Amino acid sequence: MKNELCRRAGIELPIFAFSHCRDVVAAVSRAGGIGVLGAAGFTPEQLRQELDWIQSRVGERPFGIDVIMPKKFEAGAVPDLQSMIPEGHRAWVESVLARYGIAPLPPAGGDGAAAHGGISGEQIGWTHEICRALLEVAFGYPGLKLMVNALGTPPEDILAECRARGILVGALAGKVQHAVAHRDGGVDFIIAQGHEAGGHTGEITTMVLVPQVVDAVAPLPVLAAGGIASGRQMAAAMALGASGVWCGSVWLTTPESEVAPLPRRKLLAADSGQTVRSRVISGKPARMLRSAWTDAWEKPDCPGFLPLPLQGILTQEAHLRIARANNEELAFYPCGQAIGMCNDERDCRSVIADMVNEYVDTVERLGRALADAGPDSAGDL
Ligand SMILES: Cc1cc2nc3c(=O)[nH]c(=O)nc-3n(C[C@H](O)[C@H](O)[C@H](O)COP(=O)(O)O)c2cc1C
Repeated sequence: MKNELCRRAGIELPIFAFSHCRDVVAAVSRAGGIGVLGAAGFTPEQLRQELDWIQSRVGERPFGIDVIMPKKFEAGAVPDLQSMIPEGHRAWVESVLARYGIAPLPPAGGDGAAAHGGISGEQIGWTHEICRALLEVAFGYPGLKLMVNALGTPPEDILAECRARGILVGALAGKVQHAVAHRDGGVDFIIAQGHEAGGHTGEITTMVLVPQVVDAVAPLPVLAAGGIASGRQMAAAMALGASGVWCGSVWLTTPESEVAPLPRRKLLAADSGQTVRSRVISGKPARMLRSAWTDAWEKPDCPGFLPLPLQGILTQEAHLRIARANNEELAFYPCGQAIGMCNDERDCRSVIADMVNEYVDTVERLGRALADAGPDSAGDL
């Protein structure tokens, strides 16, 4: 299973795990894949704590970091952004929360809500300035071998710095055009992420996107992402020409993940039809568990979504309040359609072992099917 990309990344298995949870990142790296920490929600100091912890757990094994550097960002200093949010939107959000009896935050916060003057770390991390500060922290760790940008080709100076430090650089693509732009921008690998994926996602499904991206950027390696949670799906991804799989949702229900008990229970119970692509979190379409909260944003009385980053600034406190209230109806969580396959709490090592075993069985089965068909079978078509 070890291929050229694995060798360059210093890993045994072509399994790449995106997670915001340090325990998942460390567990996957220790199991022979590579854990990639989603850093956008952290301040530089928080990131240092997380990476200290990861580095101390993985020994010689590599790990990665994922940042969100968008091409487009509403101009303006952070305090000005608050004043750009229409009062009507604020009032509507309050009215939905009131309908479900969601209490305001306690005055002193303590939940991190006030950490950036009321703007979430998640949204703050979407600026070049903060991304650069996060990367400066990350560059201090010898185990950092992978850097991924979610929303565009990383700037040339960051690519150059990564290259000088022996860090592989990747970028997510939801369209062939994005992938070609990333290749032209100088990345080392592409993550072709399909419509069924959790988090921010495009219109084209993994099955349709991956082979097109593989052909368009060859010989650059491509990871397949979106809807992959099993060895059969991994075999399909490799059959499409991918050099590995990049998974997010499958880790959410592991004991290592930090997902709180209520959303965890909902994720474990969900089937693949219970996700929705909504702009509620950031203003850009992202797939998540459908709930009364995501439904409310589709109703006729809703004033509509705001552009990035205003939508996130508008909703981040509401999301904190919903989480604190432990409200069954409103609770939601970013996840992909593969969540319908995550119905038990397997640890990361077991997820990987199951994936690898099923992958090997599948490839052998396909090999047998070809051998059984005989050398002349293609002539029957
Ligand atoms: C909870 C969650 C949060 C995510 N946040 C990010 C992110 O911050 N940056 C990023 O590059 N991708 C993010 N993603 C997308 C993943 O990197 C990955 O492409 C996706 O999960 C793959 O599809 P899957 O969920 O079907 O495995 C997120 C995914 C999930 C489930």
